[in-house]
Amino acid sequence: MYSVKNYNTFKVEHCVSAIQEVRSLLQLKQTLLAFERPIVLGGGSNVLFTQDSEQPVLIVDIKGIQITGEDKSSVSVNIGAGEIWHDVVIWALENQLGGIENLSLIPGKCGAAPIQNIGAYGVELSDCLIGVHCVERESGKEFYFTNDECLFNYRDSIFKNAWKDKFVIANIDLRLTKKGHHIIYSSYGDIRKRLRSLGIEKPSISDVSNAVIEIRKSKLPDPLYLPNAGSFFKNPIISISTFTMLKKEFPNLPNYPHTESHAKIPAGWLIDQCNWKGIMVDKVGVHNKQALVLVNHGTKNGSKILKLSQLIQESVYRKFGIQLECEVNII
Ligand code: EPU
Repeated sequence: MYSVKNYNTFKVEHCVSAIQEVRSLLQLKQTLLAFERPIVLGGGSNVLFTQDSEQPVLIVDIKGIQITGEDKSSVSVNIGAGEIWHDVVIWALENQLGGIENLSLIPGKCGAAPIQNIGAYGVELSDCLIGVHCVERESGKEFYFTNDECLFNYRDSIFKNAWKDKFVIANIDLRLTKKGHHIIYSSYGDIRKRLRSLGIEKPSISDVSNAVIEIRKSKLPDPLYLPNAGSFFKNPIISISTFTMLKKEFPNLPNYPHTESHAKIPAGWLIDQCNWKGIMVDKVGVHNKQALVLVNHGTKNGSKILKLSQLIQESVYRKFGIQLECEVNII
């Protein structure tokens, strides 16, 4: 049995029957045909192992960033699933390409990005993704799915639902702007404040990226020093009528605009209100600057983190009647 310690950012130490890294499309196909029901990982930054498993782990490490087409205002870029997401953001900025600057410093690799439709500060991957090139697990056959076919939603895609565990993403195509960048920051107080303090009125894509990096560094723990998997829960989406009712009882209840009929509530605020922020029990805890992030202070056993997450879910449900859903994949 092999420990997954170096393959998950929670740094838990459960064992699996094999660990295989694949570096090419051909190797990916061969390994899929050889392995039965593998657990597929990219950077291991959105997963919590809670037990040993007889399943093998397959790490997709296909590299490459290539401009594959261009028109007057944009380029299409093909990116291997094994590229580190933030390295691609840096590459884009170095080449003055816009569209993903708000997604700076999100941990993980590119192959995992479409599965949960990574997002931050008003931008989601689905805003610039053209399509994904996949291999079907069972047949080893190649498929291409367009953005529409991926059925993207808030931290969600068809790969988490109808096609869960059916395909492995080998590479992705993005459309990035060469000029006339669509700079999004004004509805995010944190970014606005940061840019204003630097005296920047008309931010460039690099200014936005730098501001996002500063904010993330100040709130979110670096998994290298304090193992974690970013937001552990999704921000719950509730009906406007439930929101209005709760707002009467909790006048400070914040919300993000979502749709006409639904509101999105910051789960971090709900957890914070239940006094979990900064708590540490049995080597696991809740981050002291962002209650949405669970952190590992030194346990090898992921089930302790799962247990803590369940206690949090129960207390949020008791106080607000809202059921928090995990963003992290539990294995
Ligand atoms: N808040 C608290 N206490 C806390 C944390 C948050 O009161 O401990 C409240 C504050 O009112 C704050 C609000 O919650 O204004 C929102 O917090 P924040 O701006 O930090 O964002 P978030 O909703 O907690 C989401 C994403 C993050 C993304 C940020 C920025 C999800 C599940 N999380 O967090 O994504 O970086 O917005 O756009 O949607 C991730 O997915 O791993 C992740 C970090």
